[in-house]
Amino acid sequence: MTLPLITTKSEEIFAAAQKIMPGGVNSPVRAFKSVGGQPIVFDRVKGAYVWDVDGNQYIDYVGSWGPAICGHTHPDVINALKEALEKGTSFGAPCVLENVLAEMVIDAVPSIEMVRFVNSGTEACLSVLRLMRAFTGRDKLIKFEGCYHGHGDMFLVKAGSGVATLGLPDSPGVPKSVTSSTLTAPYNDLEAVKHLFNENPGEIAGVILEPIVGNAGFIPPDAGFLEGLRVLTKENGALLVFDEVMTGFRIAYGGVQEKFGVTPDLTTLGKVIGGGLPVGAYGGRRDIMSMVAPAGPMYQAGTLSGNPLAMTAGIKTLELLQKPGTYEYLDKITKKLSEGLLQIAKETGHAACGGQISGMFGLFFTQGPVHNYEDAKKSDLAKFSRFHRGMLERGIYLAPSQFEAGFTSLAHTDEDIEKTLAAAREVMSSW
Ligand SMILES: Cc1ncc(COP(=O)(O)O)c(C=O)c1O
Repeated sequence: MTLPLITTKSEEIFAAAQKIMPGGVNSPVRAFKSVGGQPIVFDRVKGAYVWDVDGNQYIDYVGSWGPAICGHTHPDVINALKEALEKGTSFGAPCVLENVLAEMVIDAVPSIEMVRFVNSGTEACLSVLRLMRAFTGRDKLIKFEGCYHGHGDMFLVKAGSGVATLGLPDSPGVPKSVTSSTLTAPYNDLEAVKHLFNENPGEIAGVILEPIVGNAGFIPPDAGFLEGLRVLTKENGALLVFDEVMTGFRIAYGGVQEKFGVTPDLTTLGKVIGGGLPVGAYGGRRDIMSMVAPAGPMYQAGTLSGNPLAMTAGIKTLELLQKPGTYEYLDKITKKLSEGLLQIAKETGHAACGGQISGMFGLFFTQGPVHNYEDAKKSDLAKFSRFHRGMLERGIYLAPSQFEAGFTSLAHTDEDIEKTLAAAREVMSSW
């Protein structure tokens, strides 16, 4: 890409958008508020690349915020969708595609014996919370600072990326009576969780977490943290819920729970299982899932749930991920990227830390180490903004917030990574 980056059409479209949609977007982080400057308006996506309306091409490390793990518009997914389209866009009745995807999810994810499909990660998390409460007869919930579980009222407490980026401690409109049942602890702090259980005996329905955090930047669990939560929840008659909306089928085919060998009671999924169409899911132990209507009394429903196009894209995506070597490849290229970025930061004199697992990575502009959201907040946000803009100008599309993880895909090549590192060297050497 040649500098300066020309984005005249993006600017025109975004100016018009701001008059007709709040902030010009339909999801806040897209507006680039935390990094400054104008967002890029996309025209099309393919493989590891995106093109904006001015014709600029970028190597994409956002991947539609996670779903594009096989690369954008993979031909197998597109062809399957074309076929499915001919049969209809929505049934509102049982279809065999739901069985197929449900069986794939159950086979893959250790905790899931039964599953319910919904339309987004937010919906999955809202539903799983109702189920946690219905099953235990308890109202309180423990979540972790910096973890995001969608925009449901009771999760909008210390909720990471989007909320953090906008500097909103909570959102107006969320009643105190709702969030008073939401208890929070620092991530990776088992003692804090123990304390909450001791202070609220018999009242806590369960613990929900991102088993690898992506919404406060990339933060992996410390050794023993997930295992410790498993023990504590069991001891206290509470449920353990892994929100694997981001990590499911990304960290490993069976998610973080397969990779780390800790099995929660319930799991939420989204992103990858929809292959780029709107899907979420929640599932888990058969005895708990049997409470969901119409098998049981806990009500939850959806006009478009189990939509045939979304099921088709999900099935094809998971089929592609089953091929041998998939996760090894993601790990290899992402490691090269992550280690390369850290090395360049070191050589150019910038304090930085970060890491990756499989096709998920992060880079904080702070010495670190980062074990939780408080540590992540020590990052130099002005530096991140300059880095982000510099990379954008060189054709590299990174998530527009220090508090978001990055994603690679099967379509990213060694050459893409090398181009990205060359751009990073130029940018980091320029200040
Ligand atoms: C871990 C996690 N949970 C839930 C959600 C909400 O999913 P959605 O944006 O599909 O509603 C997200 C979205 O980024 C997420 O990362």
